[in-house]
Amino acid sequence: MITSLSRTSSKIVLRAKVTKPDKREGRNIKRRAASNPPGRTEEIKFMFFEILLLLATLVISLVTQSFIAYFFFVVLFLLCLPGILALDSAPYLPTLKKNSETMIMLADISPGTKVYDLGAGDGRLLERAAKKGADVTGFEISASLFLFLVLKKAIKRASWKVRMANFWKKDISDADIVFCFLTPRAMRRFEREKFGTMKKGARLVSNYFPLSKQKEKLVENGVYLYVKK
Ligand SMILES: C[S@@+](CC[C@H](N)C(=O)[O-])C[C@H]1O[C@@H](n2cnc3c(N)ncnc32)[C@H](O)[C@@H]1O
Repeated sequence: MITSLSRTSSKIVLRAKVTKPDKREGRNIKRRAASNPPGRTEEIKFMFFEILLLLATLVISLVTQSFIAYFFFVVLFLLCLPGILALDSAPYLPTLKKNSETMIMLADISPGTKVYDLGAGDGRLLERAAKKGADVTGFEISASLFLFLVLKKAIKRASWKVRMANFWKKDISDADIVFCFLTPRAMRRFEREKFGTMKKGARLVSNYFPLSKQKEKLVENGVYLYVKK
């Protein structure tokens, strides 16, 4: 039975107990992780909270006719808008701390590794990957999130890069690691258009949503790891 995951500089090590492995249990755990990823409820709650906040600021702006309330509503709306526009790929929904830690662990980053985040969001994965010494680039389609990332990078003097771009139009064939948190529909498109262009040995680390035809190497906390053959 697999009891823990740990990292060495070049590979992920699966620690095993010297007991007879229970294959059925392993399969069940995997199925549970895939069908009911932990933290999903929290993310749905977060989405509801965002929508409620948006509606509340709209109501407050209309009732009070206050400039600050209007300003706050516009900023919030701009943050949500790209999600609406990019619904076919993924709306803005940040990866939970626990999952981003798992993503970084499964990515097994070593210094100099080329990493892309397809839809950088608020840059949390860029930050974590850059801390490991990787050469990190995030693509972000949303103007408001892009501006936020540019500011964040400047304030933190970060080494990661951010490009305001549609990742479907970007070449990712030089990537060692690709991060994504996309909708199931976008994952199908990724499998058709992008996975084949990744180089041999490159890792795809996907939060929550799997590829449909490829066999994952690992599933941990609802994060899927694929290694290109
Ligand atoms: C679910 S969020 C994930 C953000 C971040 N990667 C994380 O894990 O916290 C998806 C992000 O992808 C961006 N996005 C969606 N479609 C895109 C596209 N075609 N090109 C670039 N960014 C895109 C959205 O604006 C959003 O910020």
